Amino acid sequence: MTPEDPGGEPHQDEGPQRVQKVLARAGVASRRVAENLIEAGRVKVDGKVVVLGNRVDPATQLLELDGAPIALAPGLVHYLLNKPTGVISTASDTHGRRTVVDLVPDEPRVFPVGRLDGETEGLLLLTNNGELTHRLTHPSYGVEKEYLAEVAGTVSSGNLRRLREGVELDDGITSPAKASQPSPGMVRLTIHEGRNRQVRRMLDAVGHPVRRLVRTRIGPISDRNLAPGGWRHLSDDELRRLERAVSGNPAPQTRAERRAAAAEAGQAEAGQAEAGQAPDGQ
Ligand code: URA
Repeated sequence: MTPEDPGGEPHQDEGPQRVQKVLARAGVASRRVAENLIEAGRVKVDGKVVVLGNRVDPATQLLELDGAPIALAPGLVHYLLNKPTGVISTASDTHGRRTVVDLVPDEPRVFPVGRLDGETEGLLLLTNNGELTHRLTHPSYGVEKEYLAEVAGTVSSGNLRRLREGVELDDGITSPAKASQPSPGMVRLTIHEGRNRQVRRMLDAVGHPVRRLVRTRIGPISDRNLAPGGWRHLSDDELRRLERAVSGNPAPQTRAERRAAAAEAGQAEAGQAEAGQAPDGQ
């Protein structure tokens, strides 16, 4: 599973699962406490008291605690984490290393939105909102990501221009970026692609290896007060702004998509001209 793939809906279409697991995912209690609830005879599936080891299909069965139905659709959660160095951006690690998922609550299960290198610090979103994850990580939506890099040496204005206009990397030239040097050796770089180690490679390519890299903004989301390792929920307003940033149609990516979009726009213009309208509908 990649960080771009949030793993699908955590509950639906998974078939019968252990009751304590479903209770924990629904946010009722930790698995251990859920086991106690089951042992105490307080949990029913389709009207029948369950025992440890029983399963429930969240899609089709009624789960009750103390006679009250449990809502099984997981609430969507959106966390903003300040990732420290040395923590990896995957949902699980086969080598037992600490992952970003270890830094936020276990339930409901969430996934990182995109990836930061192990040594990169800063803002990372984690969520169980698959649609939002898809849009935030798809290059066609072009969400800006801003980084502050401490680099070796002072970057010349010519090299800042190269960073802005596009740098030749081994996987192709980079898209136009924003680049500035707030103080000698500190580079603020804003990109909207998500290639592997892109900022480090761009700065390497212009002769300024990165010494420290921090992501300071994801689209409209920033937070200077979140301590390394700390997390918080996105506010309703932040979520609205994030959703607005990825609303609308994605920009065409391939040449064929661009041709199709241009043809469609041409037809729309022709239609509007016939109807006596300006192309933008003004
Ligand atoms: N660019 C990098 O080089 N590393 C990151 O973690 C993110 C962007």
